[in-house]
Amino acid sequence: MTGLEHTTHLRDASLELEGDETIRVVVDRDRLKRAVTNVLDNALRYSPPGAPIRVTWADTDESTVELSIRDHGPGVDPDLLPHIFEPGIRGRAERAAPDAGAGLGLAIASRLLEHQGATIAAFNGGGATFRIILRREHGAA
Ligand SMILES: Nc1ncnc2c1ncn2[C@@H]1O[C@H](COP(=O)(O)OP(=O)(O)OP(=O)(O)O)[C@@H](O)[C@H]1O
Ligand SMILES: [Mg+2]
Repeated sequence: MTGLEHTTHLRDASLELEGDETIRVVVDRDRLKRAVTNVLDNALRYSPPGAPIRVTWADTDESTVELSIRDHGPGVDPDLLPHIFEPGIRGRAERAAPDAGAGLGLAIASRLLEHQGATIAAFNGGGATFRIILRREHGAA
């Protein structure tokens, strides 16, 4: 579960990483990186410059690991929250902005994860939190 610091351009945001580095998960590394990159890209885009983004991971039980990505922005528009992993969904402010976002980052992330038995969910509370549940690998670490 290391190497996340290389997955995105961090501008001046501070990325806080915290977790047990010996934990192993059953996941395609490149696909997980792409999914996490899309979530981090949003955390950077939709929270104030320089605000910390916290990435933590821990085993939740014998068979699963929870990876959580939390920012300190305004959180996801509550009307949008139930639909956020559908393709083409963007916030009102994002649609009005002249940037080139397509509303696909989270749809891609969730498909990349769900094809390998992982899940992703979004929550608000002091910012936006994205929680990825991965299968834990047992055996020789
Ligand atoms: N961390 C976040 N904080 C607040 N709102 C968010 C956050 N992440 C996503 N959103 C909201 O969810 C919408 C969908 O995100 P998604 O990544 O799928 O698309 P996008 O960022 O608009 O475009 P793209 O990722 O294709 O460039 C965003 O437009 C934004 O309104
Ligand atoms: Mg995005």
